[in-house]
Amino acid sequence: MALPENTTLEYSNENYIDITQHEIEALKTEFNLADAHTHQSQSETQKEIINDLPNLWYAAERKTQYQSEQEFIEKFYTLHGQTTALKRKDEIYLVYAASIGMHITATYLMQRNMRVGLIEPCFDNLHDLMKHMRVPLSPIDESLLYDASNIYDNLMKNAIALDAVFLVDPNNPTGFSLFDLDAEGFIEVVRFCKDYNKLLILDLCFSAFVLANGKSRFDIYEILENSKVSYIAMEDTGKTWPIQDTKCSTLHTSKDINNDVYNILTSVLLNVSPFILNLVSRYLDDSKNDKFSSVNSLISKNRQLAIQYLDGGLLKYYQPKVDTSVAWFEITNPDVTSDQLQQVLVERNVYVLPGKYFYWAHPERGQRYIRVALARNTDMFTQAMITTANIISETYGK
Ligand SMILES: Cc1ncc(COP(=O)(O)O)c(C=O)c1O
Repeated sequence: MALPENTTLEYSNENYIDITQHEIEALKTEFNLADAHTHQSQSETQKEIINDLPNLWYAAERKTQYQSEQEFIEKFYTLHGQTTALKRKDEIYLVYAASIGMHITATYLMQRNMRVGLIEPCFDNLHDLMKHMRVPLSPIDESLLYDASNIYDNLMKNAIALDAVFLVDPNNPTGFSLFDLDAEGFIEVVRFCKDYNKLLILDLCFSAFVLANGKSRFDIYEILENSKVSYIAMEDTGKTWPIQDTKCSTLHTSKDINNDVYNILTSVLLNVSPFILNLVSRYLDDSKNDKFSSVNSLISKNRQLAIQYLDGGLLKYYQPKVDTSVAWFEITNPDVTSDQLQQVLVERNVYVLPGKYFYWAHPERGQRYIRVALARNTDMFTQAMITTANIISETYGK
């Protein structure tokens, strides 16, 4: 399908300062593989939810806001196996998007002059929101967390002078998780933070993919609460289902900082739409009933296609711990940067993300990677993979 003439891209990589600016541009392209939002169509049972939208609207009118919130919270945390958090469910706060929770978190860090160690690589808006709040940041290389037996020492060496440790789990873009076979790695992080009085901040926005992988999540809040560590944890619904950004995220903290964070939260918002809470609650039910197969079948089919068409030669597939909705590929030719490859692809209407933005402290390391979003209809995705493989073989020989 050719694009209308007025959507032809006048493209230069230099024009974009962050991932979101790329993602906005990518929305104009035929093969948008940039944002990790969910662009796929509804499954058969999800179509029934859409057919029921007027009822969800009126049901929201009949309930109190508090009822809609509590029903959503109960369903979300139960499905995710995070039942300890429900012991303080009146202190689980709902926000429109993960970035709102992040904005509140960054404000808290700024108010307390906290120095933060942030995992690298990670989604760049976490870094940017804190940078805009003038929060001093140091990178914590993800590899420091790979071996549970070294984590404590590694944090001693790399985070002892900081006030907070900020991790993304599962990580975007690598799919790394501290909860691989057991929770040992996470327990070591918590132990360090407790021993040295560090605030532990967790972006858990990709956690639904653990469930979609057919696994259960460890009850993270049980570990956090038992340890008495100070923490801020963010969860999300926005990356999981095709809900056109009618999403909701959550923010939950340890008791000791709850009031301070709540006082910032109420400067930002009153509530999330009860209609959206009812709608997302239905998607929670749907995934409970089909055991996340609507999410998993599409993502794993597209992941296999990405590997089939792209792995080998110029690109090498990076094996994640958790299969999330993105695939991360290393560029094997040292003479090709992710900026160059991305530009070559975008000229033929395939939009992937260059890796440099994820390596927020070492962009040159990110030049060795590209990220491919998988939450797309498979017909389009197949065409995108065929086109990408052809462009790569025409331009680089393989
Ligand atoms: C790990 C992670 N955290 C937070 C966000 C921000 O989410 P939102 O767009 O809902 O604000 C994203 C966005 O992709 C993400 O990948």
